[in-house]
Order: sequence, then C-alpha cells, then structure tokens
Amino acid sequence: MMKSAVFENLSYYTNRNGKGNGMQLGKLVLFYVLWAFAAASFFTVFILYSPNPFSNFMFKQHYSLMKNTSLPALTLENETTLPHQNLLKSNPATIINTKKESNDEKIKCDLFDGKWIPDLNGPMYTNWSCPLIPDSRNCPKFGRENLDYMNWRWMPNECELPRFDAKTFLSIVRGKKLAFIGDSLARNQMDSLLCLLSQGETPNDVYTDDGDRDRTFYFPSHDFTLMAYWTTHLTFSETKKVNGSETAIFNIHLDRIDDNWAQKLPTLDYAIISTGQWFNRKNYLYEGGKVIGCIYCDEPDVPKLGLSFAIGKVMGKALEYISDCKECKALFTLARTFSPSHFEYGTWNEGGKCNRTSPYTEKQDDYDFQMEVRNFQVKEFETIMKRTDRKRFEILDITRAMIMRPDGHPGINWYNKYLKGQDCIHWCLPGPVDVWNELLLAVLVSKDGGSTESEMVVRRSKHN
Ligand SMILES: *[C@@H]1O[C@H](CO)[C@@H](O)[C@H](O)[C@H]1NC(C)=O
Ligand SMILES: *[C@@H]1O[C@H](CO)[C@@H](O)[C@H](O)[C@H]1NC(C)=O
Ligand SMILES: *[C@@H]1O[C@H](CO)[C@@H](O)[C@H](O)[C@H]1NC(C)=O
Ligand SMILES: *[C@@H]1O[C@H](CO)[C@@H](O)[C@H](O)[C@H]1NC(C)=O
Ligand SMILES: *[C@@H]1O[C@H](CO)[C@@H](O)[C@H](O)[C@H]1NC(C)=O
Repeated sequence: MMKSAVFENLSYYTNRNGKGNGMQLGKLVLFYVLWAFAAASFFTVFILYSPNPFSNFMFKQHYSLMKNTSLPALTLENETTLPHQNLLKSNPATIINTKKESNDEKIKCDLFDGKWIPDLNGPMYTNWSCPLIPDSRNCPKFGRENLDYMNWRWMPNECELPRFDAKTFLSIVRGKKLAFIGDSLARNQMDSLLCLLSQGETPNDVYTDDGDRDRTFYFPSHDFTLMAYWTTHLTFSETKKVNGSETAIFNIHLDRIDDNWAQKLPTLDYAIISTGQWFNRKNYLYEGGKVIGCIYCDEPDVPKLGLSFAIGKVMGKALEYISDCKECKALFTLARTFSPSHFEYGTWNEGGKCNRTSPYTEKQDDYDFQMEVRNFQVKEFETIMKRTDRKRFEILDITRAMIMRPDGHPGINWYNKYLKGQDCIHWCLPGPVDVWNELLLAVLVSKDGGSTESEMVVRRSKHN
C-alpha cells in the first residue's frame, strides 16, 4: 500500500515538475535524502547560531524561511507538497499552505489549527531515555507493535511549531512552580513534560500522595518545581450515595471550586487547567446547592443538560475564580481544551476499542460532537477574557489536533495493577500528546518575550 502510494505520488510530483514520468524511484529516494539532509543541516546551523532559537525567529522569520526553503522544483503556484507526504497524498491535510504574506503585517499564527505530517526525526525520547514513563502509557512495552504513531509532527497552517527544546523550557521556568491541574489526562501531559525535560536535567521525585494523584518533581539546577494537582471536575464533586452506599454517579457542584487545587494557587507561577472525561457518565449538576440538571440521565423532573454545557461551565468557573484571586497576581494560567477519545466498535464501557495505526485524514462522524465540547470551553474562556487581565491567561487548544489521532491511545497495550481494558482516552508516551508541551512552550515563549509584539504572535483561535 505504501509502495503504490509512493509510486502514485511520484508521477504526481514529476508531472508537476515537468520532468516527465521517467524518474526512477531510486533517484527520488536519493533526491529526498539529500533534501532532508540539506534541510536538516540548514536548520541545525540556524538554531545553533541563534541566541534564542525560539524567539521571534520561529514564529516570524522561520515562517518566511520555511516558505523560501521549499524546493523550487516542488513549489506550485499556491501550494507545496513535500515528497515524504505521499502517505496522505490524496488528502488536503498534507498540503502545506503558503498563503501570501504581506510584509507590513505581523504574522499572526494560530498554532492550534493545522495538520499532522510525517516526521523523519522520530520521537524526542524513548522508553530507554525516559525511565519515568508509567506502565499505563508505555505502549511498546506492553505489546504495541506498530510504532508509526510516534512519527508525526504537528504543522500549524501558518507557521512552524518548533520541536521541543528542554533547555529553552527550563530557562523560562527557572525558579518557578508549574502545576497541571486536572484528571489523569493532566497527569498524562505532566508525564510527557517530565520525559521531555529529563532529556535536559534529571528531576528529583519529591512527593507522591497515597493514590499517586498529587505529585511533585523538582529540577535542582533550575530550581524548577513541576506538580500535578488532582481534580476530577475542577469544581467540587462527590459521589452520590444511594441508601448509604457509594455509586459511580457524581454530584457536581458547578459553582463551587474544588479546594484541592484552589488553595494551592497562590504559590504557583503557572497553572494548566483542564477537565472533561469524568463528565462522560451519569452525573447530577448542582448550582446553589440545588439540582439544576443531569447528564446521561432519564428522569422526568430533572432537565437533561449536555456534557458540553457542564464541561464549559466548570472551565468558566475555574477561570473566573483564578481571575478573581487577589493572591494569584504572579500566576499565568492556561486553559487546556477537551482531550478527545476514540472508541470504535462500541462505547468505552461496551466493548469499544481503538486499533488504528495512522492519523485520520478527514473528519469523522464524531468530529462535531468532540468539537462542541471544546467550543463551549473556548466560549467560556473568551467570556472571562473580556473582563479580566488577558495577559495572565492563554488557551492550549489541543482538541482539533488530537481528534485526528485515533492511533495515539494505549488501546490494550498498557498495564496497571488494578485496571484492565481498552484505553482509548489517554495517550501513549512518547506519542502525539507530546505536542501539548511543544504548544505550551510556544505559548510560554511568546509570553516570555514580553513585548506586545511577540504576545500578538500566538493568536487565540476562533470558534471553529
Ligand atoms: C524569499 O524569496 C523571495 C523571492 O524568491 C525574496 O524576495 C524574499 O526576500 C525571500 N525572503 C527571505 C526571508 O529570504
Ligand atoms: C492560485 O490562487 C489564485 C488566487 O488566490 C487563483 O486565482 C488561482 O487559480 C490559484 N492557482 C492555482 C494553480 O490553484
Ligand atoms: C521499551 O520498549 C520495548 C519495545 O519497543 C520493550 O521491549 C522494552 O521492554 C521497553 N523497555 C522499557 C524499559 O520500558
Ligand atoms: C433504597 O432503599 C429503599 C428502602 O429500603 C428501597 O425501596 C429502594 O429501592 C432502595 N434504592 C436503591 C436504589 O437500592
Ligand atoms: C480493528 O478491529 C476491527 C474489529 O475487530 C477489525 O475489523 C480491524 O481489522 C482492526 N484493524 C486493525 C488495523 O487491526
């Protein structure tokens, strides 16, 4: 299948070049290797000689450099197809957009809208170079055979997202405290960041609570503290008791912040807040101590309020709380949007599974639903931004990118003492979830640059 795709693309590509169809596959490969080598050395040299490779260069100059480095032979009038993109040839997802750029206008780039393209560099760490990967995310160790999911990178439509650089990240967060606030997906991102950073400095494992839910790591030579604070719903929730015994149903109080994280806020410099998957079951929603509705329920006198409504609402509540927090002046907050799951052939509790081995190349049936959750969160985010100091907040809008990655979940290839089954919710490490931290770094860089100019570079994405 791959062969024929290469072949098909070969003729496509040579036709466009006007060089005829006679070009041998071998020549193409050689050509490609040379191209890759040239491109790699070009960027290596540039990065080595750039005092701060992440500063404006990546978002501005690099953008135009990318356009100028595309091989003339491959440049069409309006779009460019790179030779290694043959796998997805027939899909517009692989077309690199080279929209005309007006020089007098700052390049604004939506980092969160783009496409996945094959990545020849491979993952940034492995289960050997990062011993901190939990068994529940160490997919190759538990039988995952097809490792293609590690070889893609996220390409925003209008600029280049730099590969993660541990030194740059650590220099930005020197002397600071950063916490991921949320459920096991927040922890998934923290574990990814730990692996990415441990390529720069080995952290000390400082604190674990009984359930391994709140966690602290410390990077001594950068005096950097990395934490996870556990919260299932961001707001206060408790399991519903029926006749004195606990059930799997939650009572979620949409207007009461969960103290587990809220009381720690003033000590933090960075917070990444998120929530989502715990709403995806039967729940009762409360406001002012009264039931206002429920999710996945069927009761005549309780209004059915959607998942999206509830997930948006608590995100808004959390942001509002942070915005109003007088002792949190030093805090920079990122709202991470909904992380989509990919169960096929059934739901999560009814035999669903996720066995794909490559990204989606087009929208699936559940695209709109998963985006709806995200859209509610973005709407709440924008509402809060209208009445607060915008400089203290950003969004980490990963939903669109992750919807395209059904191949990045553990599926059956994971291990945990207590749990079993198909995991189509969390993400393998290394894997597509690492891009969350590349995006995080890009946002921190644009903020850390300080000037209003660089702040404008990372543009907030619009609805849809
Ligand atoms: C890109 O190429 C065009 C024409 O080939 C040139 O005018 C422009 O200055 C180049 N841009 C950069 C950043 O080198
Ligand atoms: C390139 O874009 C212009 C305007 O954006 C359009 O008129 C033209 O047909 C396009 N050319 C190709 C080859 O797509
Ligand atoms: C790493 O993954 C390989 C499979 O690619 C597996 O055989 C090995 O046990 C794993 N090692 C660790 C330390 O997790
Ligand atoms: C709770 O207890 C009452 C009285 O013993 C009983 O009628 C009811 O069915 C029980 N509810 C559930 C959900 O078990
Ligand atoms: C995934 O599972 C389905 C249903 O069991 C099966 O039909 C399909 O061939 C599997 N796909 C891959 C890539 O293994």
